[in-house]
Amino acid sequence: MTFTFSQTTALVTGASSGIGNALAVALAARGVNLIVTARRKDRLDALAERLGAQVNVVALEADLSCQDGVDDLIAAVQGLPMTVDVLVNCAGIAPHGSFLQTSDVDQQALVQLNVMTPTRLIRHFLPLMQSRGFGRILNVCSVAGFHAVPGMAQYGATKAYLLSLTEALSEEIKGSGVAASALCPGVTRTESVIQAAVEALPEAMVLDPEAVANAGLDALAKGEVVCVPGRLNQAAVTAAQFQPRWLMRSVGGLLAKLGS
Ligand SMILES: NC(=O)c1ccc[n+]([C@@H]2O[C@H](COP(=O)([O-])OP(=O)(O)OC[C@H]3O[C@@H](n4cnc5c(N)ncnc54)[C@H](OP(=O)(O)O)[C@@H]3O)[C@@H](O)[C@H]2O)c1
Repeated sequence: MTFTFSQTTALVTGASSGIGNALAVALAARGVNLIVTARRKDRLDALAERLGAQVNVVALEADLSCQDGVDDLIAAVQGLPMTVDVLVNCAGIAPHGSFLQTSDVDQQALVQLNVMTPTRLIRHFLPLMQSRGFGRILNVCSVAGFHAVPGMAQYGATKAYLLSLTEALSEEIKGSGVAASALCPGVTRTESVIQAAVEALPEAMVLDPEAVANAGLDALAKGEVVCVPGRLNQAAVTAAQFQPRWLMRSVGGLLAKLGS
């Protein structure tokens, strides 16, 4: 059955820019009240002002690269007169560089933000959704989750984790009234994406955040578990899945060497 967004409330992490921002805008256009979070409160306030005429918007500042920040966010949401029907895990970082070049601090922040934070938020909000028999979870993964990514090894691993978690979870919660989808964009024009990566790809493979957001919400509404926005990206992911793993990682390694 298609999920009806209107009159529901979504918690969107990473809403201050890029895909998370576009998801918040697209959710508001579908009549969804919002709790938006990120570190840059000025951006969140501007978003709340922009969308405030359409829906109710609450902006909560949180640093989700540490456990305390996640706990504080959960406590702040609990204090609101709102019920989270849709959880959107979008906050994420994608540091470049070989495994040993990345500092311990950056690696810990990456794993916390891309892995531990969505896991903790799902563990908190999923049982509440299940008790009401109603809810949706959208995890922003990446095409990088389908294969190894030399040069961004840990990033690829975090996205593989989130993709695998979403797929397994979607089976475990089947029939509970709650469903989970993995949104797996390819290169998308946002602040964090490296310009060289955009220029190296055919124009048709580079996505706009708005198109990615709407593809993700359509998938969520239809109960599609894995969504790869854009026909070329879909074709590339499908073709890659038929190649031997050694070939995919060797090509990735070569591209990483050429790019460094
Ligand atoms: N752009 C792409 O090509 C692409 C492709 C595939 C997947 N993705 C995924 O899409 C998601 C969004 O990325 P984007 O490209 O839209 O990048 P972006 O514009 O840089 O957005 C990242 C978001 O995460 C938030 N964030 C970063 N560190 C945070 C922290 N410590 N605590 C709380 N929030 C934090 C940022 O907010 P603050 O800085 O205000 O905290 C921002 O709202 C990520 O999960 C990324 O892996 C992106």
